[in-house]
Amino acid sequence: MRRTPPAVGSRRFDLLVVGDVNPDVIVSGVPEEILYAQVEQLVDTGTITVGGSAAILACGAARLGLRTALVGLVGDDAAGRFMLEQLAARGVDVSGCVTHDSLATGLTVHLVREDDRAMLTFPGCLPALTAAMVGRAFVRDARHLHVSSFFLQPLLARELPDLFGAARAGDATTSLDTNWDPADRWEGVAAALPLTDVLLPNSEEALAIAGTLGPSGSTASGSDPRAPESEDPIVAAMRRLAALGPLPAVKCGADGALALVDGRLVTAPTVTAGVADTVGAGDSFDAGFLAGWLAGRRIEESLALGAACGALSLRGAGGTDWQPTFDEALAAAGAAPRR
Ligand SMILES: Nc1ncnc2c1ncn2[C@@H]1O[C@H](COP(=O)(O)OP(=O)(O)OP(=O)(O)O)[C@@H](O)[C@H]1O
Ligand SMILES: [Mg+2]
Repeated sequence: MRRTPPAVGSRRFDLLVVGDVNPDVIVSGVPEEILYAQVEQLVDTGTITVGGSAAILACGAARLGLRTALVGLVGDDAAGRFMLEQLAARGVDVSGCVTHDSLATGLTVHLVREDDRAMLTFPGCLPALTAAMVGRAFVRDARHLHVSSFFLQPLLARELPDLFGAARAGDATTSLDTNWDPADRWEGVAAALPLTDVLLPNSEEALAIAGTLGPSGSTASGSDPRAPESEDPIVAAMRRLAALGPLPAVKCGADGALALVDGRLVTAPTVTAGVADTVGAGDSFDAGFLAGWLAGRRIEESLALGAACGALSLRGAGGTDWQPTFDEALAAAGAAPRR
């Protein structure tokens, strides 16, 4: 049985987001070859903005009208203060964020060219975030708990089953976007999946996480009778993930998104909105999907809202400045109006 979040308006926050908070430095029009030996090369644009998967998601959710709180770790430095100010200005409650007294705020540099980008991340204090830093009052006061960037925060990752267990004990629903594993090991996610209501990977991440499980999820034995031999590998991976409990909603870039609803494949096409850079598309997708989930919409609609929010966020540089309102997302997704 799929769990549903507590009723709209029943808690102080619709959404508590826990995870990575750091500025993004984005330069676009990067030359084909990056030269060393102190050669200076010019690029077309340069932007410093809100980064970190959790922070971008929280801004997207606030923009969509969700009452959103964020818990993350920043350093006692200009980058940390920049992040807290920017988040607050976008309507995110940052009163639960923690300032580390010795480690610096993390930073990601995005080198964007054509339809691709490289990302260089200095983790700074990000790996020091623990579940104990997440105030239990915030967990109690939220209808839904989302965690971003599992592999950048190993202490939090280890304690994730307990944190999700606490949220679920208070009847909140839970979701996880692991994002990429820089070590390419993908370990440890399986323990959290039975306590995760919605898993929000991209297609590569879904394949990688499922690759660490048995043929139909580590709790099941034998092969899944519903999965034909010739099935698309991404759909087969989704079945293996779903066998452990979560509803997989998988992002497929310009191809839109897929979800597995009680064994049935649901798809959402992307919408065409122009692409300045793809920074934050996945996090904006998560915000849109969760806005649908928290409004009690059907998974088909939540997926379409996610795809619309992902695509609309690409209209300008960075992850947050072009995130849509709920009405803009509904219109782009072709979903039923507000009720
Ligand atoms: N080039 C694109 N054109 C149109 N829509 C896109 C494009 N890239 C992404 N989207 C939309 O945004 C959603 C999420 O993007 P994507 O699949 O890139 O997620 P991701 O890989 O998790 O991203 P991130 O790097 O932000 O973590 C897609 O499902 C799609 O709807
Ligand atoms: Mg992602």
